[in-house]
Amino acid sequence: MIDFIEVNNNSASAKIALQGAHVFHYARKDEKALLWLSEISDFQVGKAIRGGVPICWPSFGKNNPDLPQHGFARTILFEHSSTKELDANTTEVILILRYSQETLTEWPYKFELELKVTVSDKLTMELTTTNLDDKTFKITQALHTYFPVSHISDAKGKGLDKKPFLDALTNEQLTQNGDIVFEEEVDRVYQEVDAEILLTDKDRTISIKNEGSSSVVVWNPWIEKGKRLSAMREEAYNDFVCIESANAFEDFRLVEPGKTHTLKATIY
Ligand code: BG6
Repeated sequence: MIDFIEVNNNSASAKIALQGAHVFHYARKDEKALLWLSEISDFQVGKAIRGGVPICWPSFGKNNPDLPQHGFARTILFEHSSTKELDANTTEVILILRYSQETLTEWPYKFELELKVTVSDKLTMELTTTNLDDKTFKITQALHTYFPVSHISDAKGKGLDKKPFLDALTNEQLTQNGDIVFEEEVDRVYQEVDAEILLTDKDRTISIKNEGSSSVVVWNPWIEKGKRLSAMREEAYNDFVCIESANAFEDFRLVEPGKTHTLKATIY
């Protein structure tokens, strides 16, 4: 079992695992959870939690082929730096990962990675990379958020009409036409994204606003891939959509020595 921080204030509750600085629960007072979590994810040390918001860093997917899928941050222990009650409705939690012998053998750069989570009537996550090395490094990354939906056939992604995207299943470069619907496996990297994205289902609309990012990954594994995924029931693909706030593929960032980059997602 892995340790986690629990936040409860007048507006919302949240749970954040120290392993991977992984937000795995967030709900506004008297509302259903805004994050999906697999009920069979077993919270084992060294294994990524299936659901919530895994941090993919310093590489998204296999963007850096020398690193594990989605990088190493999601399975490594962060340090709990602080928890502050900013007011009765707002709590700020900061978790930090610094380079170590372990990270240097995987990725040869000195860095600090900070996740600031603000829990209020919105969930805000700010992922800041600081380059402590004397060489510029390249990162790709994502706040890989799993959102619950009433049923996958009810889900619609809005706000990406006319946006170019890379279909990661066929490697084709295409353009979105209208809302995104889910009738088969979807694994797409939307580009030039500059506005809010909405995820609607039968009951509600979730808003996702990103800063420091122009790429958004939209993913649902559907039936066959759903069977192969770890820590997930076969039919669970019916219950969630991932809309990932990213710097992926061509939206990579170069971070110079002494400089920082922040990827921010606001969800409500
Ligand atoms: C998505 C990728 O971001 O993450 C998918 O686009 C991948 O291709 C998915 O299957 C889940 O990855 P993992 O490593 O958590 O099973």
